[in-house]
Amino acid sequence: MSDDDQQSGRPWWRSAAIYQIYPRSYADGNGDGVGDITGIRARLPYLRDLGVDAVWISPWYVSPMADAGYDVADYRDIDPLFGTLADAEALITEAHELGLRIIVDMVPNHCSDQHPWFRTALADGPGSPARQLFHFRPGVGESGELPPNDWQSAFGGPAWTRTSAPDGTPGEWYLHMFAPQQPDWNWDQPRVRAEFESILRFWLDRGVDGFRIDVASLLVKQDGLPDEGTLPPGAPAPHSDRPEVHDIYRSWRRLADSYPGERAFVGELWVSPEALPRYLREDELHTAFNFPFLQAAWEHGALRKVIDETLTLHAPVGAPATWVLGSHDATRVVTRYGRADTSFTERHQPVPVDLDLGTRRARAAALLSFALPGSVYVYQGDELGLWEVEDIPLALRQDPAVQQSGGTDPGRDGCRVPLPWEGDEAPFGFSPPDAGTEPWLPQPPAWKDHTVAAETGDPGSTLELHRNALRIRRAEPALGDGPFAWLPSADGVLAFTRGPGFTCLVNLTPDPVELPAHTEQLLASGPLTDGLLPPDTTVWLRAV
Ligand code: GLC
Repeated sequence: MSDDDQQSGRPWWRSAAIYQIYPRSYADGNGDGVGDITGIRARLPYLRDLGVDAVWISPWYVSPMADAGYDVADYRDIDPLFGTLADAEALITEAHELGLRIIVDMVPNHCSDQHPWFRTALADGPGSPARQLFHFRPGVGESGELPPNDWQSAFGGPAWTRTSAPDGTPGEWYLHMFAPQQPDWNWDQPRVRAEFESILRFWLDRGVDGFRIDVASLLVKQDGLPDEGTLPPGAPAPHSDRPEVHDIYRSWRRLADSYPGERAFVGELWVSPEALPRYLREDELHTAFNFPFLQAAWEHGALRKVIDETLTLHAPVGAPATWVLGSHDATRVVTRYGRADTSFTERHQPVPVDLDLGTRRARAAALLSFALPGSVYVYQGDELGLWEVEDIPLALRQDPAVQQSGGTDPGRDGCRVPLPWEGDEAPFGFSPPDAGTEPWLPQPPAWKDHTVAAETGDPGSTLELHRNALRIRRAEPALGDGPFAWLPSADGVLAFTRGPGFTCLVNLTPDPVELPAHTEQLLASGPLTDGLLPPDTTVWLRAV
C-alpha cells in the first residue's frame, strides 16, 4: 500500500473511495445480534473485492450506547459489545495487508455521562476543577429552575440538563448539544486539548490512517454562552464555527503530519458555504464531508449547482472535494430519490415512495459521484441498493432522536438495519448460522433479493455495478482527483469530461437522449435503449 495514488502520484486521500462501516450493523461475529470487530475482520475481503481504498468505522469505543457509540466513556478502548483492543489492532493490521486504510471516528465535542471525568465532575460539585472541563452553570429563575440559556439540543428540547446532589437537591445544569447522556467538553481548558491530542496519538500509534471528526465545528463555544435569541440577526451562532476552533485543527494537523505516511482528517462539518474552506486550509483538515451534495434534489439544476459550488469552494484552498450519498444519519438514497420531493432537508415521517425509481436514480447517482473529482464515500448497504426501513415498530427504535423529539423525528434506525449477506430469511447471514438471536433491528423479508450472495454475479445488480465502477475508477487515470469540465449538452443532461478520453453523461430529463461521439461505452447505470440513454441513467464513455 503506497501513500500516493498510483496513477497521479498524489496523496491517497485526494482520490480515495471510502466505505463507511456502522459496526453494529455490518456483520455479527459472536452471534449476539449486534455487529462487531470479528464480523468486520471476516468481511474485509468483501471490501477489498468491492474495490474501495479505505474504511471509515463509526465509533467502537467503550460506551453505554445512549447514541449508538457517539457517547464515548473511554476513547482508548473498545466496547465489549464490539470486541477488544487486540481485535481492533488485528483489524488494522489485516486491513493494511489487504491494501485497505482505516479511518476511525473521533468524537471530540462531547463524551458520555459515564466518562470518568464527567463522573468526577458530578461528584466534586460546583466550583471544582473537574467541573471546569465541561459546561456547568447555575440555572436561571428564582431557584435556578430554568436552563442557563436558550440553546436547543440537536435531538430536540433544551441543550441543558439539571444535576442533583446525592440527597436529591437540585443543582447546576450542564450543556449537551445532543442527548443528555452526551455532555459537551469545555475546549477552553488546556487539559481537554491535551487529552484529545493524546487520544489521537494513541490511535495513530496503532496505525490508523485517518480520523473522521464528529460535529467538527461545534467544539468551541462563545464566551459567556449567550442566548441565541438575543443576538442581532445574522450574528454568528454562539455554539458553532467559532474562529478559535481552527487553532485546534491546526495543532491536530501538525500532530498528524508528524507521523510517517499520509494520515488524513475528514470533518463532519455542518457550516455555511463561506465557512467551509477555512477548515480545509493547508494547515487544517484534509477534507470535509459534502452534505450539500447529499441533500441536493435529484434534478439537473440542483445537481449542477451543488457540483459547481463544491468545486468553487474547494479550489482556492486546494483541497479535494468529497461526494457523499449516504451515512448512518441520513435517510437512504434509494428512498430519498423515490419520493416526489427528492431533496433532503430533514428526516420526516414516511411519504409515498417508488423504490424502483429510487433505485434507478441511486444507481445513476453512484456513477455520477464516482466520476466527480476528489474522494467518494459509500455508506454500507448502499452498494446493495438497500432502502430505508420505514416500518420499524416504535418500540424497537433505538435512536435517542425519536424520543427526544417527541416522535416527530422518525430517527435514524431505518438506515442502520443490519446488512443482509446471504440466505433467504433473516438474519441473512448477518449473524453466524444457528446463533439463535435476532439482529438488533429487524430486516425486511424482501432483502432476500438484496443480499451480497444474491447480487454477486448478477450483472444487473447494484453490487456488480459498484464493483465495476470502482474497478474502472481505480484503473482510469482521469478519475479521482484531477481536472473537470462541463461539456455542452442538451437541457436537463449533465455532461462533463475528466480529461481527454473520459466523459460522464447523466440524463435527468424524462426522455431518452442521444450519446455524444465516443469510441467505447465503459459502464452504464442501466441498460440503454436503441443506443439512447434512458431517463435517470448515467453512462461513462471513452470519448474521441
Ligand atoms: C454526528 C453523528 C451522529 C451523532 C452526533 C452526535 O452527527 O454522525 O450519528 O448522533 O454526531 O455525536
